[in-house]
Amino acid sequence: MELYDVMRTTFSARDFTGDPIPDETLYTILENARFASSGGNRQGWHVIIVRDPQTRQALAQLAEPAAKRYAAQLQAGESPWNSIDPTSVDAATIAQTPAPARLTEPFIKAATVLVVCVDLKLVASIDQDLQRVGVISGGSIYPFVWNLLLSARHEGYGGTITTLPVAQEGNIQELLGIPSHVAVSAVMPLGKPVKQLTKLRRKPVSEFTTFDRWDGKPLMG
Ligand SMILES: Cc1cc2nc3c(=O)[nH]c(=O)nc-3n(C[C@H](O)[C@H](O)[C@H](O)COP(=O)(O)O)c2cc1C
Repeated sequence: MELYDVMRTTFSARDFTGDPIPDETLYTILENARFASSGGNRQGWHVIIVRDPQTRQALAQLAEPAAKRYAAQLQAGESPWNSIDPTSVDAATIAQTPAPARLTEPFIKAATVLVVCVDLKLVASIDQDLQRVGVISGGSIYPFVWNLLLSARHEGYGGTITTLPVAQEGNIQELLGIPSHVAVSAVMPLGKPVKQLTKLRRKPVSEFTTFDRWDGKPLMG
């Protein structure tokens, strides 16, 4: 595929045909994704390829608590899980809110689930002393995670970067034998999408660019 076509059509696939992903294809996807950038080129990634149905079921269950809060906050008109505005939704409301199936079922229905981990002993977390949630550490793993999806798209497959299960990271580490200094960055259902989307909803450039200052003039097309 042409690069810009891949970039403009790599969507979050959550509905999959029953087709498996052959090991050779999985290898090709990983073989190309590994050229992603990471801080200091430390390449702290480790990918666990989960095929076992029971383990995938367990991952789906681990997504539920965070998915319930996500849905409850959306219903309350909030930006779910943001670290700036405290939620107004109480624990009882979250407990009563069902976890949307689209946030849990893909782990069970995908051909495979990739659990992408990153070794925090290798990541330079330059913002670790700032009084806000860490952002920089993710920069050493999400280019790789995104490359996985771009490569999958190129090979005719698709998936979704999911993070909801990571609210239960300790349980994922226990389930999969991951050491405690290794973070889970994404739990990615991967398979053959039922439908290939070609028109993704994204903001135009003029809405997120400014010259010289935050309040400068936008870059127009
Ligand atoms: C950091 C990150 C975390 C995400 N977490 C989840 C998740 O836990 N569950 C899920 O279904 N989608 C998750 N997504 C997928 C986004 O919802 C999706 O990329 C976005 O809605 C755009 O969808 P589209 O590419 O199909 O247009 C995540 C995406 C990113 C980049």
